[in-house]
Amino acid sequence: MPARPAAGSLLGIEALDLKDINRILDSARRMQRRTRPMLRERRIALLFYEASTRTRVSFEYAAKMLGATTTVINATASSIEKGESLIDTGYTIMALGAQAIVIRHPSSGAPHLLSRYVDVPVINAGDGMHEHPSQALLDAYTILGHKKTLKGLRVALIGDIFHSRVARSDVLLLTKAGAHVTLCGPPELVPDVARTLADNVTVTRDLREALEDADVIIALRIQKERLEGLQLKLDDYIARYQISAERVRWARKDVIVMHPGPIIRGLELTADVADAERTVILEQVKNGVAVRMAILARALGVSH
Ligand code: NCD
Repeated sequence: MPARPAAGSLLGIEALDLKDINRILDSARRMQRRTRPMLRERRIALLFYEASTRTRVSFEYAAKMLGATTTVINATASSIEKGESLIDTGYTIMALGAQAIVIRHPSSGAPHLLSRYVDVPVINAGDGMHEHPSQALLDAYTILGHKKTLKGLRVALIGDIFHSRVARSDVLLLTKAGAHVTLCGPPELVPDVARTLADNVTVTRDLREALEDADVIIALRIQKERLEGLQLKLDDYIARYQISAERVRWARKDVIVMHPGPIIRGLELTADVADAERTVILEQVKNGVAVRMAILARALGVSH
């Protein structure tokens, strides 16, 4: 059993330093300019224990664009449904010849656990309420398509921070890069303790305060599947925190509006904001492919 994750693993933003982050972003830029089949004859397994559209498809396209062979294993259409454990599934995939495993799992820490048992790189595609590193990297990549630097940038994250692995990874990455992050939402979704996530994080309940001076707004979905009995009054949420065109005007003129998806129009943001020109949600999705190509090439030790 390997004592530590295989080189090239990407378990979270927490373990990366700014140099690693910039290296991945630079590599993604090169991928976007020119793609070569540098992973030909490599096998990549995509292990999805939880629903996914964007992340699964973009990892799959990214792998295929680099010439790799991919297999998607969905929890509901495999032996996982018959009760096979995560570790045994990992051993099986390795025996089948997989050279990297991309995993999404409803339990926080599942990719970390798997990485202690398999000797191929493990890439976290979202684990419970913990981290979603590839999303944070593609968010940074997207922001840098519009802003010169992350340093000194003011980013407002609005909504369900508590249940969001995207929020956690975004906060870790953005603050490592010198941005200031304001978290905003009701206490059930943004506990006061969230300010301790990193230096340079502020919590406010006042949306106007969060949006004033914001260079970037990131709206988050209310994670209904993780609320567990929490009585959240959606009407109140909409009244106080929904991102509407009028509220976007509180921010800087050149603000961009982001969302990791899936978006629920009429809840965390209005339909007109979803479709507005300054909204870059589909750009995030598109950039996800290049960023995941960089992550996969890194995982397999292929430089370009
Ligand atoms: C997010 C996720 O699954 O963590 N979506 C994504 O990967 N782009 C956010 C969400 O589900 O709200």
